[in-house]
Amino acid sequence: MKNLLSITDFSVQEIDQLLSVAQDIIANPEKYNEKCKHKILATLFFEPSTRTRLSFESAMLSLGGSVLGFSDANSSSASKGESVSDTIRVVSCYSDIIAMRHPKEGAPFVASMVSSVPIINAGDGGHNHPTQTLADLLTIKTEKGRLDNLTVGFCGDLKFGRTVHSLIEALARYKGIKVVLISPKELTIPDYVKSDVMDKNNMDYVETTDLEQVMPQLDVLYMTRVQQERFFNEDDYLRLRDSYILTLDKLSNAKPDLSILHPLPRVNEIAVDVDNDSRACYFKQVANGRYMRMALILKLLGIE
Ligand code: CP
Repeated sequence: MKNLLSITDFSVQEIDQLLSVAQDIIANPEKYNEKCKHKILATLFFEPSTRTRLSFESAMLSLGGSVLGFSDANSSSASKGESVSDTIRVVSCYSDIIAMRHPKEGAPFVASMVSSVPIINAGDGGHNHPTQTLADLLTIKTEKGRLDNLTVGFCGDLKFGRTVHSLIEALARYKGIKVVLISPKELTIPDYVKSDVMDKNNMDYVETTDLEQVMPQLDVLYMTRVQQERFFNEDDYLRLRDSYILTLDKLSNAKPDLSILHPLPRVNEIAVDVDNDSRACYFKQVANGRYMRMALILKLLGIE
């Protein structure tokens, strides 16, 4: 039984297959609308979400399946002290596949040890968010026509931004990727991502605090929110939250075919004027998330 806990659970070939299936779903949605008839997806969200939970639910409903779950740990027996392990043992009696989000890094791994159905990590603390990466990869592939030979800038909270960690892990396996890491000194990428992912894969990367200086090099700019919920100190959050605000002005020296991504939710990192720029891809990224999650559910359930 296969789970998706980290994007490295899939080979490059498997990711390419998921991208192809998602592209086929976009082209021929009617072929897929009964593929998961009588299958049940459980969405267990111990942390807030709009996109990930609803896109998983929309994905399963579009495949003809059903969904159950909770969107707030306080409405589940976790609030009475039930462990993640016991919750998963119970819910795997009621469902065929589980997507879970949890504030603790590694919780989906713990779940996978006791589950009788596939587990999907829908975000674990500041660690990983592999299904967002699937949406990101489809967006980059669609916009740029390739996943190799790109200069990708990551800007904002690179310390706690789990989507950044997972996307770098994915890109590390493609050729000719240069990563430009743009953040305040306090929010730089964790050392383990440097040593275990970028150094290990001989990835070309630079770190800087200056977005405008590196802007002309970039093929993709991945903006991120400063993750308020991971800060221990409110003053630090308030000091850092507006470190980077992307405006049309700041895009004046960017490539005309730059692709601007953001996993969303956005707080203040991208001015709303940028939404109408042809380079803004973050709402296309949202739509792609649903198609990639449809492809993922099919793969993990072993449905052709
Ligand atoms: N991108 C993302 O994970 O959004 P949500 O927190 O709304 O699910």
